[in-house]
Amino acid sequence: MITPVLPTYNRAPMAFVKGEGAWAITADGTRYLDLGAGIAVNALGHANPALIAALTEQAGKIWHVSNLYTIPEQEKLAEMLVDKTFADTVFFTNSGTEAAELAIKMARKYHYEKGAPRDEIIAFEGAFHGRSTGAIAAAGSEKMTKGFGPLMPGFRQLPWADHDAIRAAITDKTCAVIIEPVQGEGGIRKVPDQCLKGLRDLCDQHGALLIFDEVQCGMGRTGKLFAHEWAGITPDIMMVAKGIGGGFPLGAVLATEEAALGMVAGTHGSTYGGNPLACAVGAKVMEIIADDAFLGEVNRKSALFRQGLEALVASHPKLFEAVRGEGLILGLKCVATNTDIVKAGYAQHILTVPAADNVIRLLPPLNIPDADIAEALTRLDAAAQSLEA
Ligand SMILES: Cc1ncc(COP(=O)(O)O)c(C=O)c1O
Repeated sequence: MITPVLPTYNRAPMAFVKGEGAWAITADGTRYLDLGAGIAVNALGHANPALIAALTEQAGKIWHVSNLYTIPEQEKLAEMLVDKTFADTVFFTNSGTEAAELAIKMARKYHYEKGAPRDEIIAFEGAFHGRSTGAIAAAGSEKMTKGFGPLMPGFRQLPWADHDAIRAAITDKTCAVIIEPVQGEGGIRKVPDQCLKGLRDLCDQHGALLIFDEVQCGMGRTGKLFAHEWAGITPDIMMVAKGIGGGFPLGAVLATEEAALGMVAGTHGSTYGGNPLACAVGAKVMEIIADDAFLGEVNRKSALFRQGLEALVASHPKLFEAVRGEGLILGLKCVATNTDIVKAGYAQHILTVPAADNVIRLLPPLNIPDADIAEALTRLDAAAQSLEA
C-alpha cells in the first residue's frame, strides 16, 4: 500500500524534532552532528537566533501581500544582492528549480527580443538543476528523465568541463550555457577557473548568455559570496536558492540589465516568490554571510576541516580516495560504496549526504564551531573503523 507521503525518497529512519547550530536532535534527545545542513540549506545552522528574530519579527507584521504590490523586504534584499554582485536586477522564487525555469525563460526571451530567437541551451553531464520538466531536460540524465517524456526540447549535454567539446559545440545559434561552478549532486566537482574563464570568452564571442547555477555552491559555501568569484569572471544570469533562506524557502534569479531585457511586466510571476517572510530572513542571511570577516572564517574553517579530512583519507585508503571541493562544500571521493559509509556515519550519529561519482558530501553550516569540526573528524574516523572491522 502506498504511504501517505508519496514515496519518492529513500528516507533514513531518523526523525529530527529540534536543531541547535550544527546539531539535529531526535525526539528521544539523540544528537546527530549535521554535516548535510539540509543539503547546503541551513547555512547558519539550526535555530540561529538572528534568523529566528528576523522571521518572528516579520511574522508579527505581515506574511503575504502578493507581488501586485511593492514589498519593502523584497526590495531591500534585491538591493543587497545587486550591491554585492554582477547583477542589476533580481527575481525571487521559492526554490532552485523555479530559478532554473526563469533562467531558461529569460535566456530564450533575450534572443527573441534581439530579433533572432535561439533554441539551444548547452548543459553538462552530471548537472542538477532541479526536478521540473525544464530542469530535468537541461540535466538530461536517464535517471532523472526516464518515463517523463516528451522532454522540453532545445538542450544539449556535453561532457563535464570539457573545453574542447564546448568550443566545438558553441555557435552563433547557441542561446545559453548553463553550468554549476561546483557540481553538487554530480559529486562536488569544481569547474577549473580556466575553464570558467574560457566559457565566458566563448559565450561573448558567440553572443550566448552564460548562466551559473549557484543554488548549492553559492551564498558563501566556497568561501566567496559566490563560487564564480574565484575565477574572476561573471555570468549574465545566476540561479541562487538553498543557503540564501537559511532554511526558509527562498530562491532568486540574478541578472544583468541586458540579459533581463525581455522580462517586462506580465512575462513572469509567482504567488509566493519574494514574500515578506522569506525576504526578511534572506536579508538577515545576506547581512551575515556577505561580510568579509565571515567569509574569511569560512576559508579558515575549510582549511582546518580539509587538513583533518586529508588525514582521514590517508589512514583509510580502502574506504577513501581523495578530498574534493572548496570552502565548506567538500566531498570525500570513496573507494568503498559511498552509501555504506553514510550509513556507518548514522550509527556514529553524524549526517553526511551521498552524491554521484561515489562521493560523500560534507556541507556543514558555514559557522560550524571548530570544536564541531574536530568532533566530525572523530566520528567520521569511528564510522570508517566500524566498516573496516
Ligand atoms: C545546483 C542545483 N540546482 C538546482 C537545484 C534545485 O533546487 P530546489 O531543490 O530548491 O528546487 C539544486 C538542488 O539540489 C541544486 O543543487
